[in-house]
Amino acid sequence: MEKLKIVGGTKLRGNVRISGAKNAAVAIIPAVLMVDGVCVIENVPHIKDVLVIADILSDLGAKVKWLQDDVLEIDATTVNNYIATDDKVRSMRASYYLLGALLGRFHMATVRLPGGCNFGERPIDQHIKSFEALRASVNIDYDIVIAKSEKRLKATHIYLDVVSVGATINAMLAACMAEGTTIIENVAKEPHVVDLANFLNTMGASVRGAGTDTIRIRGVEKLHGGTYSIIPDQIEAGTFMIAAAAAGGDVLVENIIPQHMDSLSAKLSESGAIVTEFEDSIRVESNGMLKGVNVKTRPYPGFPTDLQPQMVTLLSAARGKSMVTEGVWESRFQYIEELKRMGADIVIADNRAIIHGVDRLRGATVKATDLRAGACLAIAGIIAEGTTYILDLKHIDRGYQNFEEKLTSLGANVVRIDE
Ligand code: UD1
Repeated sequence: MEKLKIVGGTKLRGNVRISGAKNAAVAIIPAVLMVDGVCVIENVPHIKDVLVIADILSDLGAKVKWLQDDVLEIDATTVNNYIATDDKVRSMRASYYLLGALLGRFHMATVRLPGGCNFGERPIDQHIKSFEALRASVNIDYDIVIAKSEKRLKATHIYLDVVSVGATINAMLAACMAEGTTIIENVAKEPHVVDLANFLNTMGASVRGAGTDTIRIRGVEKLHGGTYSIIPDQIEAGTFMIAAAAAGGDVLVENIIPQHMDSLSAKLSESGAIVTEFEDSIRVESNGMLKGVNVKTRPYPGFPTDLQPQMVTLLSAARGKSMVTEGVWESRFQYIEELKRMGADIVIADNRAIIHGVDRLRGATVKATDLRAGACLAIAGIIAEGTTYILDLKHIDRGYQNFEEKLTSLGANVVRIDE
């Protein structure tokens, strides 16, 4: 069993280069299923979720080849299979994008329900509502979703009842090759929604308005091959910014889009770190003596829920009281029990964590309960006194490329051990 061993108490210094965005890659790779021709995708993060989704495309009959460590070539021209029910589909959340992409290409999709991090209930009613609005019939047989239409999908007007990244992306995928112009309202504005729209447009689609509340898609008959470079990972960047601020030191987080980090930069500054923006990097300087702040997670451009556990960790050793309100997921505080083992003083009341900052966390053996929880425990280990062991690394490996190498290059004392 692999574990991370972290000896705490080090400051972080140096430069760290952020990889391509996981949540963009896991949407763009399924989207390639709709493309007639060869796609070369650059800045692809080499992480488990990407390897799995690329593998699923390969199982469906696409030719998938890594040209370099971060460049993936996919030719899905010859794919003639719309059934993805293998266990791999259940190992990640984003496999539900196969539904939109296969529906777009074949008007048929048979896909197993997805897995991914457990944040309580994760409904897909808005995805299904969008497919049905585009005139597909959708049935769920135990854990298999069967979506189909006799002919090409038909454009429509969709209003999403909740701002959902997944439903926005799935509706975009399915509408891309539908007949006519689809309007999707109350959509998610996350950077990876915009990145998917840019990818689709590069391949010949007509998607307008991504990044605003309304997306308009004029359906095209065909998408063609091309080359596209994925945006940097907002959440990986944020994880390193929070680590630098919490541990103290001076870190330049490189290869990022600073505007994507605005909500986090504002909160780190409010808590006492010095955050300086450059064209494609952000420097975080801190003496590690931060003060408590209140945070509420919301859809973009609000504070990202995927940085909530990391921020709670920082606040658990900041001066004074903080309140963190989770505004996206009903249950995203499971990891707090693990932080408490390390001495954090946190009380959960409904969707709020009330945090009283302690002088020092202390090392313990803890479990990564999900992907970002794993990252937050690594930050906790770095700022704690003593040694921390993190178990269940499979979650971290799903979403962070070379995580411990990057932390070590900044001076953290982190090693992966196999026992
Ligand atoms: C994506 C991200 C995840 C992130 C989340 C919110 C990927 C692979 N995952 O997840 O890391 O935490 O966005 O930024 O990109 N909802 C419904 N009905 C639906 C769909 C969603 O009620 O049909 C609700 C959810 O319960 C949740 C909220 O909408 O409360 C947001 O979920 P959504 O944006 O869809 O999250 P995911 O796309 O699953």
